[in-house]
Amino acid sequence: MSHPEAKARLVIAIDGPAAAGKGTLARRLAQHFGLPHLDTGLLYRAVARRMLDRGEEPADGRAAERAARLLDPAEVGRGDLRTPEVDRAASIVAAEPAVRAALRSFQREFALARGAVVDGRDIGTVIFPDAPVKLFVTASAAVRAERRWRELADRGIAVEPAAVAVEIAERDAQDRHRPVGPLIEAAEAVRIDTTDLDPEAAFAAALEAVQARIGASA
Ligand code: C5P
Repeated sequence: MSHPEAKARLVIAIDGPAAAGKGTLARRLAQHFGLPHLDTGLLYRAVARRMLDRGEEPADGRAAERAARLLDPAEVGRGDLRTPEVDRAASIVAAEPAVRAALRSFQREFALARGAVVDGRDIGTVIFPDAPVKLFVTASAAVRAERRWRELADRGIAVEPAAVAVEIAERDAQDRHRPVGPLIEAAEAVRIDTTDLDPEAAFAAALEAVQARIGASA
């Protein structure tokens, strides 16, 4: 890469719907560029988990804001954040503007020191609107549902494939239509459709996009 000082603060913003392959791609890009990785979905999941543990209603905006303000970053390392129950609750708490506001500075500060690969829904549009590289990772609804179903099955969580498809569609609709921080494709984002790509091919496409944006020697 041609600008070493820019590399110190390189931010790669990755957005897209659920189960499109953002996480796998983000981890690989982070490893390739020696950058920290932040999966921002885990922040919303940890807020939701904290509320469920306390018997609070995820749609209770005030309780959700409190949970977000009290969030201990160590909670994002919990092993019980990827259950169907948390999937639903996270999408509900994420629609609360005060929750999004409470998590904003954590996300920005994470990338301040060394740059970062950050994935989520509003990373290129709200959190890092000036990120030099923005990717929008997507895939067909059928393929995303199938991937999520497999992921759950691999972890021993048995659910009907049709139920996973409905759940993903509902969560996407909620993420796309909320008034604050909705999932939208930034105009300058490079779109990577992983419907017919394996993780290797998706990484190759992403690397090409990143190099085109920051310089071929990266
Ligand atoms: O990416 P993941 O599926 O783990 O995210 C869980 C939920 O958190 C999403 O359905 C979405 O509602 C919310 N989220 C968000 N903004 C982000 C990341 C996740 O609203 N930047």
